[in-house]
Parts: sequence; structure tokens; C-alpha cells
Amino acid sequence: MDSEDGWWRLGGNRLIGKRIIHLEEATSTNDVAKELARRGAEEGLVVIAETQSRGRGRLGSAWASPRGGIWLSVLLRPKVAPINAACITIAAAVSVAEAVEEVLGVKPQVKWPNDLLIDGRKFCGILAESSIRGERLDFVVLGIGVNANVKLEELPEELRDSATTLYSALGRPIPRRRLLDAILRRLELHYSALLQGRFPEVLERWKALDITIGRRVVAEGPGGRMAGKVLDVDGDGSLIVQVDGGSVVRLRAGEVHILEM
Ligand code: BTN
Repeated sequence: MDSEDGWWRLGGNRLIGKRIIHLEEATSTNDVAKELARRGAEEGLVVIAETQSRGRGRLGSAWASPRGGIWLSVLLRPKVAPINAACITIAAAVSVAEAVEEVLGVKPQVKWPNDLLIDGRKFCGILAESSIRGERLDFVVLGIGVNANVKLEELPEELRDSATTLYSALGRPIPRRRLLDAILRRLELHYSALLQGRFPEVLERWKALDITIGRRVVAEGPGGRMAGKVLDVDGDGSLIVQVDGGSVVRLRAGEVHILEM
């Protein structure tokens, strides 16, 4: 399908992707990147695997990673104290969405906190994992999984109603090199904006793609499950929900299920 040899090899002068490690198989690229981070690897390192035997999603779920996808992790060492990992996830979601639009000409939607969708079905997920030393963020490993040249039948059966792949949604092979290049370029841009205190600009872009705000949802956060209406996403990436018949709550982490589209 995508037989571009060495599709992960990108040239150019870049911070994110200056060094790229490509593996035929990894347990999880996030785990490989974390291990390298602990051994002192530099910011901007990208680990890519053709398949993952133990790909991880958020909230302890498994992430199916057949060949043909883009399974990668980026090592970040944000120096300004302490950037909320939710902001990095939001910057990553904007980067992938813009890259997909640039390279493939379709505009994805984003669903808080980290899902990218086409026609309401998820094709990309993001898993940011932080390591904190004292008060400071030591490093963040940003894992991005894109169902690129994957056929729908290659995903687990239970996901086939809610998930999709770029290949199946568009009905054509996906140029992974161009998509990877665009994702990393845009990530570098939006990550720099975060470091310079310009998160509101990134958030504005995110809101232009968002399908969560204004919807009725069931939200699951650390405090449990609640039904309500999403009012906004605030300046540190938290979801603001007007709970039915009650108060307004602020979710820093969790999951939302949209009740009405
Ligand atoms: C989610 O939506 O639940 C997040 C999925 C994140 C998947 C990516 S694939 C590359 C990286 N390695 C992993 O084990 N997970 C992330």
C-alpha cells in the first residue's frame, strides 16, 4: 500500500524530528521514548514503529497498531514551569488536524481532550505522559497514533463502529511521509507558541475544529460520571461542563461521550 522506502526519514532543519529512531516493532513507542528520556535523550527525539505489540491508549485501554499506521512518540522537555500536559495534547491535536487538512484536503473534527474524527469516527488518538521531578516537569512523551494506511477490517471488531482509518475514509493510499512531515512541522510551530505563552492562539485553532462545545454529553472525570452541557474549554485546556440541574464543573482530565450530534 504505502511502500515508500524510508518514509520516516525527513530532512530539513527541525527541532522536532531532528533525530528519528525507526523500529520495525516496539512494545509501545511511548515506553521506548520514556526509557531514552531517562537516559538523557534530547528534546525533539521522535520514535516511530511500524507496529506496536502493546500500544497504549488513554485510561488504560489498548491501542491497536497494525502495520501501515503512523505510531510515534515525541520527547519534549518544556523548560518553562510547568506547562499543563493538557495544553500539549491540545497543541498536538491541532497539529495533526491541520496536517491532515494540508496533505489530504479533508478537515477533521476534534473531540475533547484528544480524539480526532472524520465523519464522527475516530482515526487518531493522543497520549501525553509526563515525568515530574520535584515541582518541575522533567519531560513529556507525546504519543500520537494515526490510523493511516490501515484497513478498517484490520482494527478490532468492537471498534469498527466508532473508529475509522484515513485509508478507509478517503478510499485511497495515504502518503505517510508527507503526513508525518506536516504533523511534525506543525507540532514544532504550536509547541513553540505554548513555550512563548501563546496558548490562547492554539486554543482558538482547536475551538475552530471542536465538536464538543455546546453539546450535551456524559462526562467521566476523576470525580465520577455526570450528564450536562459543555460550555467551554478554558485557558489551561480543562473542559467546563454545566451539570444537569446543578453546578458548573471543570474537568482537567477524563472522557466525554456526546449524546446528540
Ligand atoms: C487514545 O486515544 O486513547 C490515545 C492513543 C495513543 C496511541 C499512540 S500510538 C503511539 C504511542 N504509543 C502508544 O503506546 N500509544 C501512543
